[in-house]
Amino acid sequence: MTTDERVVDAAGIRSTFRRLTPERHPILARCTRDVVYDEGRCMAPGGLVLVDAVGRYLNLRPGQSVLDLGCGRGQSSTFLAARYDVAVTSVDLWIPADERRSAASAAGLAHRITPWQGDIRRGLPPGTPPFDAIVCVQAFHTFGTSMALVRYLATLLKPGGALCFAQGCFSDECAAIPEPFCDSDGWQADYARYHSAPWWRAHVEASGVFAVEAGAEFEDGDVMWEDDVLYRGDRAGWSADYLSRAGWLIQHIRYGQTHRPRLTHLLLKAIRRAPGAGTSGALDIPGVQP
Ligand SMILES: C[S@@+](CC[C@H](N)C(=O)[O-])C[C@H]1O[C@@H](n2cnc3c(N)ncnc32)[C@H](O)[C@@H]1O
Repeated sequence: MTTDERVVDAAGIRSTFRRLTPERHPILARCTRDVVYDEGRCMAPGGLVLVDAVGRYLNLRPGQSVLDLGCGRGQSSTFLAARYDVAVTSVDLWIPADERRSAASAAGLAHRITPWQGDIRRGLPPGTPPFDAIVCVQAFHTFGTSMALVRYLATLLKPGGALCFAQGCFSDECAAIPEPFCDSDGWQADYARYHSAPWWRAHVEASGVFAVEAGAEFEDGDVMWEDDVLYRGDRAGWSADYLSRAGWLIQHIRYGQTHRPRLTHLLLKAIRRAPGAGTSGALDIPGVQP
């Protein structure tokens, strides 16, 4: 790509991609975009827009306990602890607990956040007290689609406790990754694990241990992808390096502007049914799907 083509392309993106607005996403009226996107450290689109929506859906109350699953660098844990005065157990596989402990201390929230590094598919340490809610932002699909895991998560909740997750997905269910989405950097794209919102809803409902209260495409779920490109592009000064690294994603987003499926996001909330519903909730590690 020549410099001129790059300039045209950057200009084209900036004039056609849409931004999330404070009118529809109230956190954008309270926080700068750098705060919302954790200065670009978010590992996926959405940042605090998704976390704030999950918090509002859960209607969290002071003193409640929350498991923040796949929390990445812990922005969601810090936000929920500060905004709702809840006690958060922050769990992630890749990001060391010490990094999240430091972030919690820096925010004056060390007493409210318990970081733990580990694989949820192997279970939490025995004796972990049950939670009022499980939150999962941009991570649920990475755990695989094992029904045993969904049932295990129910056992981590108090009766009546809620599971709420929000993440990227396709607008429509596809038997295989659609051809236009096959070209990616192979690392950031998790498309092989993507499903549609109705698929996730049916999956959690089929566990027998949750009653799904909400499970649909997130408002502006497609715009969230465009806003992410705009934010990261602005930060990178629309450099050749950024356009080259994000090129595959930009093409996928553009495809979805006129075709289906398109990239979007979903939000799902489910309530743990009374104990005894479904199966035991024992984690069957060999059966967990990658
Ligand atoms: C796409 S990142 C999202 C991180 C963060 N929630 C965000 O929005 O920036 C997915 C996160 O899920 C975590 N993860 C993946 N598999 C996991 C597992 N089996 N158990 C716990 N965390 C896992 C990864 O370590 C990673 O930080």
